[in-house]
Amino acid sequence: MFILSAEEVKWAEEIWQKLDGKLQVVTKRSCDKFPFWSENGLHDDMKDENINCWTNGFWSGINWLMYVGTGKEAYKKTALEGEKLLDKALSRPEMISHDVGFIWMLAARPDWRLTGNHQSWQRLKVAASYLMGRFNPEGGYVRAWDWGKDNMEKVGWTIIDTMMNLPLLYWASEDCGDPRYKFVAMKHTDMVMRDHIRPDGSVYHIVVHDPFTGEAVEKRGLQGYAAESSWSRGQSWAIYGFTLGYLHTGEQEYLATAKKVAHYFIAAVCEDWLPKSDFRSPKEPVYFDSSAGLCAACGMLELAKIVPEYEKRLYVHAAMKLLMNIEKNFADWSTDTDFIIGNSSGWYSKEQNVNIIYADYFFTEAVYKLKNFEPLFW
Ligand code: GLY
Repeated sequence: MFILSAEEVKWAEEIWQKLDGKLQVVTKRSCDKFPFWSENGLHDDMKDENINCWTNGFWSGINWLMYVGTGKEAYKKTALEGEKLLDKALSRPEMISHDVGFIWMLAARPDWRLTGNHQSWQRLKVAASYLMGRFNPEGGYVRAWDWGKDNMEKVGWTIIDTMMNLPLLYWASEDCGDPRYKFVAMKHTDMVMRDHIRPDGSVYHIVVHDPFTGEAVEKRGLQGYAAESSWSRGQSWAIYGFTLGYLHTGEQEYLATAKKVAHYFIAAVCEDWLPKSDFRSPKEPVYFDSSAGLCAACGMLELAKIVPEYEKRLYVHAAMKLLMNIEKNFADWSTDTDFIIGNSSGWYSKEQNVNIIYADYFFTEAVYKLKNFEPLFW
């Protein structure tokens, strides 16, 4: 349970009603889509363009949250439709990357949890097996991407984002009773603590490893401003990822790391609680990334549940400041548009002030948590 002020409780209730009001309309309009971006306010559809896109679980995820929170069948129907259509993605292994966790933990995990649908279990198991297949035992890491010549150019690359895919491996160990999946998730997490987390709590987006020895040979940036800068969404993947790692393992080092990366985020954002796309970029132009703040808020709300009593308020306060300020400045509640939260960033260099589905997803997940509905994912 969270300790919320009366004002925060009222805010969460009002926003939940607004989410339901808008999403009833949008779910009808986008019932057969896999939205990633909203252009001119309306959802695009990745179904034909890239059925394996890493974002293809978020729309089902939003609909599962709304179904459980409201009991309205239209949400469930859309979520189930998305889960089924994604079988096309599972049947294309050459297109599958580390992002299987983002996709199937959101699309299939709730169906398995709520209905016991065996097909959902199969989807999760196949996806977890793909993720296991990306493990480099000598390097102790899960490979991220397959881009480049013969798919082998990135064979030694690890990225901070993978932390959010590991819950699929924890699920496989917990649900199937086989500890190997958890071993792999923990090996990877230990590598991230060693190679991606800087002493000040900021994170490297990419680390290049020698695939034969596992040695970290280069630190790189890609979606942030520069290699040594501080990509804010990468920071939020670390906050939520390490918190989930602790929840699944009870490893104190993971909890300490979650707190360290969260403290860095709070210090970097607390001037106005509107996260910049990169915390160490030039002052101008100002680029925001709502998605970073909303994912960080979800991680901090989970952190608040775990830490001792007198630490809880720090994380709840920070999460609420992020949620309320982002909503106040960047929300669009009109039912003529499909997106809810604007002003996100895909890549610092090329995708700014965009409306992306995972900002809406993490916003919905955060408000769902504030309402204390039953856990569904991760
Ligand atoms: N996982 C890709 C991103 O954060 O943009």
